[in-house]
Order: sequence, then C-alpha cells, then structure tokens
Amino acid sequence: MYRLFFDLIFKRMDPEKAHHLAFAWIRAAARVPVLRTFVAAVLAPRHKALRTEALGLRMHGPFGLAAGFDKNASAIDGMTMLGFDHVEIGTVTAQPQPGNPKKRLFRLVADRALVNRMGFNNDGSEAVAARLAARKAALGEKHSRTTVGVNIGKTKIVPEAEAVADYVTSTERLAAHADYLVVNVSSPNTPGLRNLQATEALRPLLAAVREAADRTVTSRRVPLLVKIAPDLADEDVDAVADLAVELGLDGIIATNTTIARDGLGLTTPKRTVEAIGAGGLSGAPLKARSLEVLSRLYARVGDRITLVGVGGIETADDAWERILAGATLVQGYSAFIYEGPFWCRKLHRGLAERLAASPYATLADAVGAETRKKAAA
Ligand SMILES: Cc1cc2nc3c(=O)[nH]c(=O)nc-3n(C[C@H](O)[C@H](O)[C@H](O)COP(=O)(O)O)c2cc1C
Repeated sequence: MYRLFFDLIFKRMDPEKAHHLAFAWIRAAARVPVLRTFVAAVLAPRHKALRTEALGLRMHGPFGLAAGFDKNASAIDGMTMLGFDHVEIGTVTAQPQPGNPKKRLFRLVADRALVNRMGFNNDGSEAVAARLAARKAALGEKHSRTTVGVNIGKTKIVPEAEAVADYVTSTERLAAHADYLVVNVSSPNTPGLRNLQATEALRPLLAAVREAADRTVTSRRVPLLVKIAPDLADEDVDAVADLAVELGLDGIIATNTTIARDGLGLTTPKRTVEAIGAGGLSGAPLKARSLEVLSRLYARVGDRITLVGVGGIETADDAWERILAGATLVQGYSAFIYEGPFWCRKLHRGLAERLAASPYATLADAVGAETRKKAAA
C-alpha cells in the first residue's frame, strides 16, 4: 500500500518537498490526542521482550530514529507515535543556519539509497532548546516516556579553530533537555567538520562538551556519545574507540553517511550518480561498511561503552545482525523513506521473533555475541 503511494505521489515529488509534506502530516496527526493514541496502537505496539536499558535509560525497545530527520525537535511525539523507541533530534548548531543551496537531497530508488548535502539546516540551539522546554512543560511527567537524544554540530561560518566554543554553547543550551547528547563530527557536508575526528582535535572537544554538560546539568549525568563516519580508516576507528574509553564516554554511534560511492550500482547509472555530485550516501549501500565499523568497535571496547548501530538498516534481520555485532541500540533513517509508516512495526515484530528463536534470554545477552564468537574462534 505505502509502496504504491510512494510510487504515485512521493517519487514524483522533489525529495525535500516530499519530506516536508510527510513531516507535516505526522505532526498534524500527533497533535490530535485520539488520533495519536489510535495510530500508535496500530503502528507502535510494544513488545515486552524488546525492553532495553542503555545509557542508564529505560527504553521500550532498541530501535530509534537517526539524526537528520527531525532537525529542529518539532516532531518527536509524531515519530514516537510511528514506533521509534528513541528519537535523536538535530544536528543542531549554535547559530541558526539555512544549510546548503537546494537541490540538496536525492533519491536513488533502485539502490534503496539517498544522497544528501543538506549542510545542517536548522533553527539553532537557542530556538531548539526553547522548543524542547515548551514540549516538556506541555507534557509534564509524560515526556519521560520518550527518549530524546540531542545531536550537536558546528555552525558552518565558525572557523575550525573556534569549534570547541561553538559546541560548548550548544551544550550549555541543550544538555538540560537531552536524555543523551551526541557530538557529531562526521557529517560530510560541513567543510572541515570531519577533521575533528582526529584524536588531537577530538580529545579537547569531547572533554569541553563533557565539562559543559556537567556544569549545566547538576541533577544527573547526561550521557555523552560521539558519532563517527564510515570513511575513517580502521586504525582511526580504533583510535576513536580508545579515546572514548580513556575519556569515559558513554557511547559511539556508527555510522554517519559516506562520501564513497562503491556500494552503488544495482541499477542507478553511473552518470546519474555523478550528476548528483557531492554529499553523504545513506541506505542499503552503506550497510556493509557500517556493520564492519560497528564490529570493529565492539571488538575493541566490548561492553565498556554503549554502541549504536546505524547505516543501511532496512529489515529486522539487519537490526538483529547489528545487535549480534555489538549494538545495544540501532537506528535508521533512509529505509523509513522507502518503507513508510509500517516500518517500525515490522521491524519490532521481526526482532521479537528473532530473539524468541535465539539461544539468548534477553536482548542484552545477544549484544555482541557474534563478534565475541569470532574473536574466540
Ligand atoms: C537527509 C539526511 C539528513 C541527515 N542529517 C544528519 C544530521 O543532521 N546529523 C547526523 O548526525 N546525521 C544525519 N544524517 C545521517 C543519519 O543520521 C544516518 O547516520 C545515516 O543516514 C545512515 O543511516 P541510514 O542508512 O539508515 O539512513 C542524515 C541522513 C540523511 C539521509
């Protein structure tokens, strides 16, 4: 049904316009309490076996919405209604910015992929903090039912040398509203951003964000994660893993989009890919490398740090594979565009079935089992 709808309506529209249209519908539905309850009952049934504890937080399940879909924290309840167990908003930058010129989002339907060079279009951390505070005030205690991750990045016009102060500003404004905080140093669409993944740059950045979060929020410890690119060389993945352990980071998110184009070519002609130009590739072609990076991280850090697997997850099998590789949480974005509103439901049901058929009593027991097996062999 959604496939037909996608082919007839969304596929014929500009991808960014289709995104805004779908986004508006989701927000509108979530604003009507009766409709929200009904849609959630159909699309987001909860499976007890999938209950997950991660980052010191209790969640309904391990599957969340990756950053970039709800950049300004305006559809958290809508996305929860559709079945995402956590919603990572952002990337938010200290200053509001329009992002790159349009056209900046492209579909590669045959490859079940997207290319984007959005460039952190967002309302800025002051406005997003106000929105998160207003949501909390409106919902009261109920807000705690949804886990909200806040992903922060560097403002484009801020020079690399002043990046730390820019992230600290966003941390000061947003940490109080974040169930967990993510330092994004891996988007390919902000010039120089990915240089911050080098440990000499990353160490002071993460230390400063940690300090700012602790200084701003004294009632609890806000979990801090870093999100990395799939294009890092293996030794750089190891270096980030070691740094994360050294700094007592809570988690690593692997991975962001890739600048590589190797996984493509199912049917999208090479010249179409070339015509799209620069940007981050996401979806199915990213699957293999994201899984590889995740397994490598788990082999290095084991259970000392929470790993979040993202990149090319389309099915329950993909999510289960990430969990066995070492992910406590998994996220998705691109497949939601192609699969539609029943996606989370299918994924949850499939995950619960796989867990029931597995030798593991709980999801937590399954985390990293495959990577541990490989290491022991
Ligand atoms: C249109 C688009 C915008 C994105 N924006 C962000 C962003 O602002 N911050 C971020 O950390 N990741 C962003 N991402 C990356 C996703 O969070 C995710 O890491 C990546 O798409 C891989 O997952 P997927 O294959 O399930 O899409 C974006 C992805 C897409 C497709």
